Amino acid sequence: MFERARMSMIGGVPMNWMVEWPGPFPIFARRGQGSKITDVDGRTYVDFCLGDTGAMFGHGPEATVRAAISQLRRGITTMLPTEDSIWVGEELARRFGLPYWQVAMTATDANRFALRMAREATGRRKILVFNGCYHGTVDEALVRLVNGRVSPREGAMPHPIDPEQTTKAIEFNDLTALEQALAPGDVAAVLMEPAMTNCGIILPVGGYLDGVRENTRRTGTVWIIDETHTWCAGPGGYTRTHGLKPDMITLGKPIAGGIPAAAFGLSQEVYDKTISNMLAETTGVNGLGGTLTGNAFALAAMRATLEHVITAKAYNHMIPLAERFNAGVEKLIHAHGLPWHTVQLGARVEYRFRTTPPRNGAEAIAAKDPLLNRYLHLYDLNRGILLTPFHNMALMCPYATRKDVDLHGKVFKESIEQILS
Ligand SMILES: Cc1ncc(COP(=O)(O)O)c(C=O)c1O
Repeated sequence: MFERARMSMIGGVPMNWMVEWPGPFPIFARRGQGSKITDVDGRTYVDFCLGDTGAMFGHGPEATVRAAISQLRRGITTMLPTEDSIWVGEELARRFGLPYWQVAMTATDANRFALRMAREATGRRKILVFNGCYHGTVDEALVRLVNGRVSPREGAMPHPIDPEQTTKAIEFNDLTALEQALAPGDVAAVLMEPAMTNCGIILPVGGYLDGVRENTRRTGTVWIIDETHTWCAGPGGYTRTHGLKPDMITLGKPIAGGIPAAAFGLSQEVYDKTISNMLAETTGVNGLGGTLTGNAFALAAMRATLEHVITAKAYNHMIPLAERFNAGVEKLIHAHGLPWHTVQLGARVEYRFRTTPPRNGAEAIAAKDPLLNRYLHLYDLNRGILLTPFHNMALMCPYATRKDVDLHGKVFKESIEQILS
């Protein structure tokens, strides 16, 4: 199939990240169900990748599927609001503590729209992100900090504007750097994950996020929390689990069970400063939204997923499994004296090739070992386990079982014994 696909699809895949799976070709999926994927050769895998978080609540959650099929028969896209949208707005406000919401198609979109709104609210142009971040294909955020300067991220195709003109980048967990970067008063928004997940999991040190809130508030900078991945911490994301008070929140990936949908929320203050241009005669060209955004199908899926799938009950199953996964891997690392560590963030667990958890992007990037990574991932793949190709990260979905976790433990043990032998 891969050979045939290469004749028409760039790289033999419908989306270029799919070439990053280890081995000479990606497996082609026939079916995803619950915590498992079956490939076209009939082999079944325990899936800890879960569509890189898009299927964090399992493949084909029943309530989402039922609502989606029912809505498909009643109209997919109409350029009209449906009653489901009210339910979704109210539910997101209740969960995340921000009063106003709008829908997007992807988390990338949600971040682009949030940044645009922050610029509108502040009259400033620059944004601030963190070394090692990923917020989707948002030009200004596709950067790295290299020798103290913000630079295009390695491998990124050319930016339309030099990122030094659009972006400040600093290291995570460094309040002095944040204070200095915000002091000139030219930053519209700080866009961040409350715990970084895209160059390994990096947890905030005690008091850091309070410091971010204090500094952004003092300098009139909009604080945007991207909860796309950190939603693994609880039903109201990391924000609610840790009582944070951002000005804006962006969400994507699992919000409609994997059906393309995303959302961004704003505070009363951001709303008051942006509403006139959002609802002006020119709203269709103000740079937010798109023809299919907010379609009836996506809203029906979001409602069902929020109501029946992304529930406290689901987390009560997922998080203990993540603890079991974490404890098992940690025990093996210690038993074999490996200079590695594990980190858990709610239903997400990661192991990394350094003795202590990194405090920032620079430390996390320095600990990368692409060859070791590919070896471990291929070892897993050949023994029925899928891990996200670009991370050593495992996500537990509500359908995952102890047996799934223990299979990973067994294979992980064998793989490190092979390395050490
Ligand atoms: C934190 C975060 N935000 C946004 C995105 C972009 O999501 P999407 O590719 O669905 O637009 C990603 C993707 O990995 C992400 O990790």
